[in-house]
Amino acid sequence: MKIGILGSGDVAKTLGSGFLQHGHEVMLGTREPAKLADWAKQHPQGRVGTFAETAKLAELAVLAVKGSAAANALRAAGATTLAGKTVIDATNPIADAPPVNGVLKFFTTLDESLMERLQREFDSVRFVKAFNSVGNARMVNPQYKGGKPTMFICGNDEAAKKTVRGVLDQFGWETADMGTAESARAIEPLCMLWCIPGFLRNEWTHAFKLLTLPRTP
Ligand SMILES: NC(=O)c1ccc[n+]([C@@H]2O[C@H](COP(=O)([O-])OP(=O)(O)OC[C@H]3O[C@@H](n4cnc5c(N)ncnc54)[C@H](OP(=O)(O)O)[C@@H]3O)[C@@H](O)[C@H]2O)c1
Repeated sequence: MKIGILGSGDVAKTLGSGFLQHGHEVMLGTREPAKLADWAKQHPQGRVGTFAETAKLAELAVLAVKGSAAANALRAAGATTLAGKTVIDATNPIADAPPVNGVLKFFTTLDESLMERLQREFDSVRFVKAFNSVGNARMVNPQYKGGKPTMFICGNDEAAKKTVRGVLDQFGWETADMGTAESARAIEPLCMLWCIPGFLRNEWTHAFKLLTLPRTP
């Protein structure tokens, strides 16, 4: 697939490398291409463009920008360009205030997640929340003795979620579909939980796993 990743930070670069590694075509989008000079040098087959160019190229897009800038980045990418496209939303609504005893502050509430806000403004975009509840170092081909970790996803469009499940299969994840966009109210705060051992004990290598029993007929 042609993958357009909106972002120039660690998540964008890691996922960009991962998609290339798995045989996709990749463009990373940024306001400042100079930020991606090293990535571009290390990945000659990858491309760098503006947010708008990246959205245009994308068959599948990834939103990997600072949470508070997500709507701005999507506006720059172009609502019309992204209409009907699947956008993996890896963002978290982290506020600028420092964490309290290791607990991050969010600028959203438990009654409205960032993805719901984005879905409301960009109503023709098929958002799927994914990749927000693990550190970027473990996003692609995670290796754990306990088996595949679980990626919690949600979104309103079943076909879009099927596409994202395919990506997660390829990247070595087990997918747990938690339902519609409202479930981002629960999935986004997994980032707070994930970061606590990091802030308190400098442990940043874990991932979540959902343990289940087989369904009884
Ligand atoms: N870091 C992780 O391990 C991790 C893990 C899971 C989820 N996340 C989430 O993934 C997202 C990306 O995280 P990150 O650490 O890679 O990068 P980041 O530092 O949170 O964000 C950098 C990106 O935000 C964009 N940005 C900042 N202000 C902007 C504005 N006013 N308008 C448009 N774009 C703006 C930058 O655009 P330019 O390129 O134009 O400067 C850059 O692409 C965040 O929402 C984060 O919470 C991060």
